[in-house]
Amino acid sequence: MPESVRLSFSIEKSLLKQLERLTREDGCENRSEFIRGLIRNRLVEEDWQKGREALATITLVYDHHSRQLSKKLLELQHHQHTEIMASTHIHLDEHRCAEMIMMKGRPERIRRIAALLGQQKGTLHSALSLSGMGEHLT
Ligand code: NI
Repeated sequence: MPESVRLSFSIEKSLLKQLERLTREDGCENRSEFIRGLIRNRLVEEDWQKGREALATITLVYDHHSRQLSKKLLELQHHQHTEIMASTHIHLDEHRCAEMIMMKGRPERIRRIAALLGQQKGTLHSALSLSGMGEHLT
């Protein structure tokens, strides 16, 4: 584990109360852990803003009967194979499926693929979860 330093800083009492509430609600052991998480989130956000290679997962919920969408999903996974690393399919019930697609690549490419999938006929919901490659996080 990298060397840690102790620091002190000033903060309004009202903000300190909010910090303690958020730390508790997030299930963090202490404020340091919570603040480390905030900084890392901001660093990942910066990776996305600056167009650095990133990691993301798209979750899609879609109509099982929509053949066009299933075809498009397969097609994309073949043609965008440099970005799409893995995918998992779950049969939710007789009519609905979910697919989690893990991607690695440039943010603009990942966003384009996510938008393409989200716009397909038969997609009921799509959510993009953004992460980073972890290079600047320690
Ligand atoms: Ni299915």
